[in-house]
Amino acid sequence: MHKSKLWLITIGVVAFALGWYGGINGNEPVMTSSVGGASYGGGYGAEAGESSKNAVKARTKQGETLVVNPGESIQAAVERAQPGDSIRVMPGVYSETVYIDKDDIHLSGFIAAGERATLDGQGKLNDAILYSGNNIVIENFKIVHYKGNGIMSQAGNNFEIRNNIIIDTGIYGIFPQLGTNGLIEHNTVSGIADAAIYVGMSDNIHVAHNEVFDSVAGIEIENSRHAIVENNYTHHNTGGILTFITPGLPIKTTYDVIIRNNFILDNNTPNFGAPGSTVAGIPAGTGILVMAADDVIIEGNFISNHKTAGILINDHANAAGLTLDPGADPNPDRMMILDNVMSNNGYDTIAEVKAFALTELHTGNIDIFHIGPSQDSCIINRHRYNTVGIGSYSECGFNNTDNIDTYLLAGGAEPRVIQPSERGEIAYLGVCTGCHSYRGVLIGPAVEEIQARYAGNPEGIVSYINAPFKIRPEYPEMPAQNYLDAETQMAVADYMLNIKPHAQTEAE
Ligand code: HEC
Repeated sequence: MHKSKLWLITIGVVAFALGWYGGINGNEPVMTSSVGGASYGGGYGAEAGESSKNAVKARTKQGETLVVNPGESIQAAVERAQPGDSIRVMPGVYSETVYIDKDDIHLSGFIAAGERATLDGQGKLNDAILYSGNNIVIENFKIVHYKGNGIMSQAGNNFEIRNNIIIDTGIYGIFPQLGTNGLIEHNTVSGIADAAIYVGMSDNIHVAHNEVFDSVAGIEIENSRHAIVENNYTHHNTGGILTFITPGLPIKTTYDVIIRNNFILDNNTPNFGAPGSTVAGIPAGTGILVMAADDVIIEGNFISNHKTAGILINDHANAAGLTLDPGADPNPDRMMILDNVMSNNGYDTIAEVKAFALTELHTGNIDIFHIGPSQDSCIINRHRYNTVGIGSYSECGFNNTDNIDTYLLAGGAEPRVIQPSERGEIAYLGVCTGCHSYRGVLIGPAVEEIQARYAGNPEGIVSYINAPFKIRPEYPEMPAQNYLDAETQMAVADYMLNIKPHAQTEAE
């Protein structure tokens, strides 16, 4: 008698628990086939149907090929070159910073029997290649041991950065900033203290077939629009692929990003980003991180072995140490998660994730974790993953992005012409905002702090940026900006001192 009563109680408890479980997760799983089915109908220029996998326009004129041999200077060749010229750098070791401030230059390393033209900063030089022209190609180099950037561009439209091997080049490996229409493909980038590939404030970007590892952030699409990140292999970073809005930058949106068909594995490297920098907030063990970006499609990726989560989605309010920007929408809206293969994620997650998971009575692994408000997000085949926080996601009405080949612009973007009056602004946006935001810390101190220290003293800024020295022990050293000409230095110092908190307009 006693026993059967216990039975009944047990059944009651199980039924209650099942009901509860069902209530949270929906009753019948909706299974969507991976074969056939509708394609995504949105995205950039979907109606135009035009696309091309080249970013650089036809040459302005068929120029000469200048050859650089070991012992000679690449920069000297750049200085001789005219738009339309190609520079061929023969295998050997070159220790210099190359600065290209012209349009339509193709800078190519020549590879012979696997030997490359190698730029070696010897742990002393800041940057390997900097450019600000339009229609630039940089390819086939090996770049090692710089302190600032491997390849960085400022406000150049139409670029191709291809087939470079970049190891230990400081803060960024490949860093195009403020460019429209760029292709970054077949590069191998490793050992970078911030982002291996960092696309900042740019539009119409294609990042494909790269391998990035042993860095803090693998591939980062930040304050940028219309970007496709596909067929990359990102492993042993702190975070694999990231797309987000950094508050406090003059361009305040990130949307229209497709992350598809990537291998994203074992990104559990302890975070070694500069303390206080945005990437220092990435929890080790994150496959894909989406913060405040909109219209992000995640499709066809292998995402495995991440201790925090396979896909981590959050708003600004749930990010540690960020200063909110009233000009930026803090929420990630219209996330679209299609079929991915995910396994062994979230097995040893951070306290914040664990605590939120418990509010849904979730314990154990987490493939997909979403915290914070989100509108119109969707997923297919949610039963395949361990999920937390996606209760508001509907079923997507499509299961692939086969309609979208690329967001690169057929025929290229119009070249960007920098007027003298824009010099300060462009240099500020293109260079300084890589490390300084108005409020809060990116890599360097906040601009408002600099404004207070240098009020009425642009000359002081000019002399500092020409020969920076260590001031704050907790920050890395600032790389010298002495490649900028004197006029630009003065213009950027003025601009930095006069910029207002939120009067910055979208520079699109
Ligand atoms: C690669 C990152 C990086 C870039 C790019 C960068 N900075 Fe900095 N900057 C820093 C860091 C880090 C510090 C803090 C150095 C310290 O305190 O030791 C700093 C500090 C400064 C300071 C403060 C010096 C002081 O007395 O407190 C000024 C002024 C400054 N930067 C101006 C600029 C300007 C202007 C640009 C653009 C032309 C620029 N920075 C680009 C990283 C950068």
